[in-house]
Amino acid sequence: MTAEIISGKEIAAKKRLELAKEVEKLKAQGITPGLAVILVGDNHASKTYVRNKQKACHELGMYSLLVELPEEVSEEELLKKIDELNNDPVIHGILVQLPLPKHIDEKKVIDTISPTKDVDGFHPVNIGKMMTGENGFLPCTPFGIIVMLEDTGISVAGKHAVVVGRSNIVGKPVGQLLLNRHATVTYCHSKTENLKHYTQTADILVVAVGIANFIKADHIKEGAVVIDVGMNRNEAGKLCGDVDFEEVSKKAGYITPVPNGVGPMTITMLMYNTVKAAAESIN
Ligand code: GUN
Repeated sequence: MTAEIISGKEIAAKKRLELAKEVEKLKAQGITPGLAVILVGDNHASKTYVRNKQKACHELGMYSLLVELPEEVSEEELLKKIDELNNDPVIHGILVQLPLPKHIDEKKVIDTISPTKDVDGFHPVNIGKMMTGENGFLPCTPFGIIVMLEDTGISVAGKHAVVVGRSNIVGKPVGQLLLNRHATVTYCHSKTENLKHYTQTADILVVAVGIANFIKADHIKEGAVVIDVGMNRNEAGKLCGDVDFEEVSKKAGYITPVPNGVGPMTITMLMYNTVKAAAESIN
């Protein structure tokens, strides 16, 4: 079997067209969705991510505000800036790019963002709402994975979904979203004994471990849906995922590539959350 490739790039492009129409409708009502991105210091990767987020805003006709703060900014000053943005009516979404310098408490920062503007879906209120299935903001990468599965027509209910990785940003929430859609979910992680025992029974396998080409063909069941969240560089410096695409794509039913798989969906769902925040600010 040769897997069907799930193109995140194509699905993201389609969703962005739909979003651009939503932005137009909101603008006709006098509201331009606005996203504030706070960047502390000059981490090279963070700068690239932030630039891509701003570009996506502009392409959709949204307002984008970049707040750049020096590496030495105090926690107090950063919290004050967030509070200002919480109270700024032209800003509907606030995102503080992570990681932050060591002298700043990340948790305190996330807790300070108003849950109604928390478009990253990292605030405990939104995490709680995700657990109970209430309306809130879903974290962008897990949300993007669900949208990719839906758009491809892959049903989740009753399936065995195995998540490898348990980060707060990807592993834990993607398992919860799959559970909310009635999958039977197994979490695996770095301490799991006999990983293959679990991954070989997965109908849907989500991998977010950050190790290049970690999942091989003998980890998976014939015909499985394989979602690769990895973003690594191999020995040759080439971008690659956590899944060995070359061999796994010969056995899987569906597979996401790296690049152009999950990546483009993440920013798209950030835009979706910002448009949703703007729309909800009217009511
Ligand atoms: N750093 C890496 N990924 C993310 C993300 O999704 N959100 C934020 N705020 N920072 C990040």
